Amino acid sequence: MASHSLLLLPGDGIGPEVSDAAERIVDWFTRQGSVAFEIERDLIGGAAYDAHGQSIAESTMGLATSADAILFGAVGGPKWDGVPYDQRPEAGLLRLRKDLDLFANLRPAICYPALAGASSLKQEAIEGLDILILRELTGGVYFGEPKEIVTLENGDKRAVDTQVYTTPEIARLARVGFELARTRSGKVTSMEKRNVMRSGVLWNEVVTKVHAEEGYGDVTLEHMLADAGGMQLVRWPKQFDVIVTDNLFGDMLSDVAAMLTGSLGMLPSASLGAPDEASGMRKAMYEPVHGSAPDIAGTGAANPLAMIASFGMCLRYSFDMGQEADMLDAAMANALATGVRTADIADGGNAAGTGDMVDAVIAELEKLAA
Ligand code: IPM
Ligand code: MN
Repeated sequence: MASHSLLLLPGDGIGPEVSDAAERIVDWFTRQGSVAFEIERDLIGGAAYDAHGQSIAESTMGLATSADAILFGAVGGPKWDGVPYDQRPEAGLLRLRKDLDLFANLRPAICYPALAGASSLKQEAIEGLDILILRELTGGVYFGEPKEIVTLENGDKRAVDTQVYTTPEIARLARVGFELARTRSGKVTSMEKRNVMRSGVLWNEVVTKVHAEEGYGDVTLEHMLADAGGMQLVRWPKQFDVIVTDNLFGDMLSDVAAMLTGSLGMLPSASLGAPDEASGMRKAMYEPVHGSAPDIAGTGAANPLAMIASFGMCLRYSFDMGQEADMLDAAMANALATGVRTADIADGGNAAGTGDMVDAVIAELEKLAA
């Protein structure tokens, strides 16, 4: 029987609660008997800082490098506001992304039929929504150097972040975008700010060139300035299929896209590296887009669906288990259709807890497997 190793990094805030939820789903798939998932747990973020004085320990980096896939909860919280900048909880996450070269971040925004009323947009604008934001994750202003605050001679301070992209960094992301579009509705919208930024000019050129010269003529490519893209996302999001954009614009646009679907608590993500030349396996990390939500941490109220759907993406993209991933997606949709709602998506009334939602998903999995 095939066996896959998963490194579970629950992290902070609601991270551990939604990780427990995901673990129940992972175990359910193991119990079906066709593949075994071996889960190892370790610390990340503030939890790791409290234990080792570092937001990720070297030993954890080692586990992350050798695992078949990583499931990541969430990091951060007010408790760590005062820790040194280099050891803030988010630094552990950024190091994983950078050191494992997880350059392609897939953030789908799907509107579940049962939740079409939960969005702040009109129902007709988001019913049936199924878009994918492909965010560059290891470059741009997140990592560009210099990145510093310096004190000037007159005592004023000057802060610098550097937006930087090279041709190969843009080209490899564009290829992932075109490949993904082929499996969907066949359209890519590339977003940058070429009217203001040199990196936007290069971005636009490289995406255009990859499209024209690498045989992606079957995919429609359009370009949009990122600010206009943000506006179009809230005006008529169904015009998009795959949005390809840089690290910072992708961060912002994916939060906007998340809210279209009714709740940030619903959105999974996958961060993928390049396939290994020998094995074909990609380094990969799966994480919910929502953060650590310290305000509700420990209350059992967190919506586990983003984390569960992240494991679904893991099945699909790391283990080629598309059928099982479809089944999990269907189980989540069916669970929602029964009316079960965590507080973030509830319409007043009594909300279900994290565990109730997992119970509902498992009950639907049982039905689909029967
Ligand atoms: C995200 C988060 C992270 C980011 C933070 C936690 C560093 O907002 O994954 O979208 O900015 O990339
Ligand atoms: Mn973000």
